[in-house]
Amino acid sequence: MICRFFFYSLAIILSTAVGAGAVYFLQQNASPSAGGRPVRNFALLDQNGRYHQLYDYQSRRAVVLYSHDPGCPTASGIDNLNALRNEFTPDSVAFLLIDSSGNGRASHEAPDKKRNPKDIPILNDSTRLVAESLGTVRSGEAVVIDPVNWTVRYRGPIDDRSHYQTETQDPTKNYLKEAIVALSTGHPVEISERISVGCPIDFGTNIDANALSYSHSIAPILQKRCVSCHQTGGIGPWAMESHALVQAWAGQMRQAIMLKQMPPWHADPLVGEFRHSLALPPEETKTLVRWINAGAPRGTGPDPLQTKSENTVDDWPLGEPDIILTVPTFKIPAEGILAWQYVKLPIPIEEDTWIRAVHMKPSNREATHHIFGFVEYPKERKQEEPQWAEGANSFFAAYVPGFPVVPFPVDSGRLIPSGSKMIFQRHYLTVGRPTEDNLQLGLYLHDKPPAMEYKMATAINMGVRIPANTRAHPESASVVIPEDGQLHAIYPHMHYRGDSIRVKVRYPDGNEERLLSVPNYQFQWQMSYQLRHPKPMPGGTQVTVDAIFDNSSHNPANPDPSKEVRWGPLSTQEMLVNYMMYTTPR
Ligand code: HEC
Repeated sequence: MICRFFFYSLAIILSTAVGAGAVYFLQQNASPSAGGRPVRNFALLDQNGRYHQLYDYQSRRAVVLYSHDPGCPTASGIDNLNALRNEFTPDSVAFLLIDSSGNGRASHEAPDKKRNPKDIPILNDSTRLVAESLGTVRSGEAVVIDPVNWTVRYRGPIDDRSHYQTETQDPTKNYLKEAIVALSTGHPVEISERISVGCPIDFGTNIDANALSYSHSIAPILQKRCVSCHQTGGIGPWAMESHALVQAWAGQMRQAIMLKQMPPWHADPLVGEFRHSLALPPEETKTLVRWINAGAPRGTGPDPLQTKSENTVDDWPLGEPDIILTVPTFKIPAEGILAWQYVKLPIPIEEDTWIRAVHMKPSNREATHHIFGFVEYPKERKQEEPQWAEGANSFFAAYVPGFPVVPFPVDSGRLIPSGSKMIFQRHYLTVGRPTEDNLQLGLYLHDKPPAMEYKMATAINMGVRIPANTRAHPESASVVIPEDGQLHAIYPHMHYRGDSIRVKVRYPDGNEERLLSVPNYQFQWQMSYQLRHPKPMPGGTQVTVDAIFDNSSHNPANPDPSKEVRWGPLSTQEMLVNYMMYTTPR
């Protein structure tokens, strides 16, 4: 991740003003020069659920952000913007609309060409944090950014017509065009700021960040959303254990939040509903970022992060397991790339046993990349063994960072035949000093056989073939669920070139439904998405996963953009798999 601190002033002025009226007043009196204001990176989703990061447009000569409110009379200015856009090639100037009206992305689906142009991204700034950071206070305002140093070079209207004249009069001054042309030809921008006409952005009334109490408002958010990982022994790289530590990391926190990297929850909030979501709700996002913008002040009251809550990392959150398999200690050297480790242990059960939950628990989360557990059936019962995607044994349990530890759905379970063995596949990372891992697998048993079996269906495409130096290469995979069941969880899997993924179902009656969209897939976060409401799936339902791979140098995780990539188990090769967990009556 890129970590930058930028000094920041106007937002602090804005954040102390109360209400949109006061903000309007400030803007009228703002200094005449927009030039030089730094613009920090941010990421937003557009009307089609695609992820855009401002700094992705680095290779352009100019980036134009236009504040758009589809409900405002001035929205008709979009036509003029579109006409102007056509005068530049997309490779030279990027045009993006930003909607900070709070109407949400759903309002962009209305079929109104003027208010909802289809071919230009409309970024949804529902928290208004991007408007705040840009210093934009109303719709109809264009901001021209110089990607060489990410500073504002022009702020104001498209031209000198007022909005009701846009279709009847020719402009006498084309401010925006002149600014773009000056910037792209290396000339100074002559007019760098003009007041624009538009509808005020409603920043809400509670924007006095200095009045936010760290003790009562901020620390509780961090405790609820971050500390489970950011504690000593947790998987986060630093522990949130005092105000001073949080303040020292405040710049990185803001960056990680504004790029939607932290908390690590990457599902599009408009598609599907999930349990155990790690998402930071919009109100909490605003509170945290505004507090950071105000300098992350300590204020008065106790520091809740300093009162040592007992460390939760070593617990069995589901209670003491009925059976614990203890894997011999693995010594992890200080450096180097480690091959996957395999260990096979007998499962100490006398008879066929139904399992209601599993918990894979490495002792060293810092160095654990992933651990999978597979059940190997005894030889004489090999033909009963459920096959998983890659053909080897029955996939049973997993540890990857951020995976929720939850029991199987109510009254469902998975069978382990007596005489079976558990195969552990372990992948460790070196951390610069010798360490070790003591791995345990907890098994929780059913008292009596459950009514339903918990099963897995796998959509898999082993034919993926991703050309070198390609920014957006599509591939897909699908699977038909063979029997009536209820879908509970979705677990998509790609490697470093994975860019985004969408999962949809097609029911036997022909109806389609979107289940999950991950606009900014991150290989290091192998998430399992647990549906809030299990979905009935009649036998014959088809599940399709549509993926985009980025095998270009634009993808910072890409190990080598110059190579065509195909299917393979190494992270540097690719996969496209989607596991669907469902229950079905036994
Ligand atoms: C599920 C575990 C988890 C949760 C919850 C979580 N983090 Fe993290 N965080 C991590 C891990 C692991 C990393 C390092 C790897 C990465 O950056 O993806 C990290 C990295 C970071 C970084 C460093 C990014 C950089 O610049 O390198 C910041 C800042 C951060 N987290 C802030 C937060 C904040 C703020 C929250 C809560 C709003 C939060 N995290 C919630 C696990 C978590």
